[in-house]
Amino acid sequence: MPKIKDTVKEKYAEALEKSKEKKDTACCSEGSPVEHIRPVAGLFSGELIAPSFGCIYDLPGRADIKSGEIIVDFGSGSGYDLIRAAKLTGPNGKAIGIDMTPEMIDQSKANIDKMGLKNVEIKLGEIENVPLEDNIADVVISNCVINLSPDKQAVFSEAFRILKSGGRLVDADKIAAKEHPESLKENSDAWCGCISGALTKEGYLEVIRNAGFENIEFEIEDKSSFKWEGEEIILYNGIIRAIKK
Ligand SMILES: C[S@@+](CC[C@H](N)C(=O)[O-])C[C@H]1O[C@@H](n2cnc3c(N)ncnc32)[C@H](O)[C@@H]1O
Repeated sequence: MPKIKDTVKEKYAEALEKSKEKKDTACCSEGSPVEHIRPVAGLFSGELIAPSFGCIYDLPGRADIKSGEIIVDFGSGSGYDLIRAAKLTGPNGKAIGIDMTPEMIDQSKANIDKMGLKNVEIKLGEIENVPLEDNIADVVISNCVINLSPDKQAVFSEAFRILKSGGRLVDADKIAAKEHPESLKENSDAWCGCISGALTKEGYLEVIRNAGFENIEFEIEDKSSFKWEGEEIILYNGIIRAIKK
């Protein structure tokens, strides 16, 4: 799937637009037995301004963010977690969001302005090649994004590079119970629906360890399943935590 990132961008721009129209946001998986891309929560300011397409509700609240910390959000979308992270770190800290979809970047900028937050920066970019310097972050958070990347080794290595020594990775993600069948891995609808690109626990451990992280822990939250060509596919929502020593 050489163009999968372009497809992911199109589908998330579409999902954002549909969430504004308050339509059902099933956008890339209609007619196939895979999950729809739909917001799991949202930030309202009169209207829905920041739909959350994450796997875990209130990830910043689960990341033990302290006042003054620098937080980088990989795949910050329309800014739901970014805004919460900025509030938790407060005026002495900063939250930096990175997303590759221009429509998400525009929406998150508008949302930050609306909320009057001054300690937020938003960058258009890819998490495989993060537009930030080495050793600048206390925490890298990411909510249901890394499963969408076709090069997870690059993503975890970039997280490691930008974290300060002692910094932590807090990744909410989809975790596959076992290796997916090839036909599911190659289905672009299921990829955009955060299914096909999910690794097994062993798969994540390998790339996260290779990136240099230690103290890797998995916190499994819940489970979903569906049938694919007669086979039961089980996916977990979980938080993966790791430390850069
Ligand atoms: C499932 S949504 C999650 C968004 C946000 N974290 C949230 O909780 O609402 C995935 C987001 O990740 C972005 N994304 C996916 N792959 C990316 C990549 N390789 N680099 C940067 N952003 C990416 C998409 O543009 C989209 O905004």
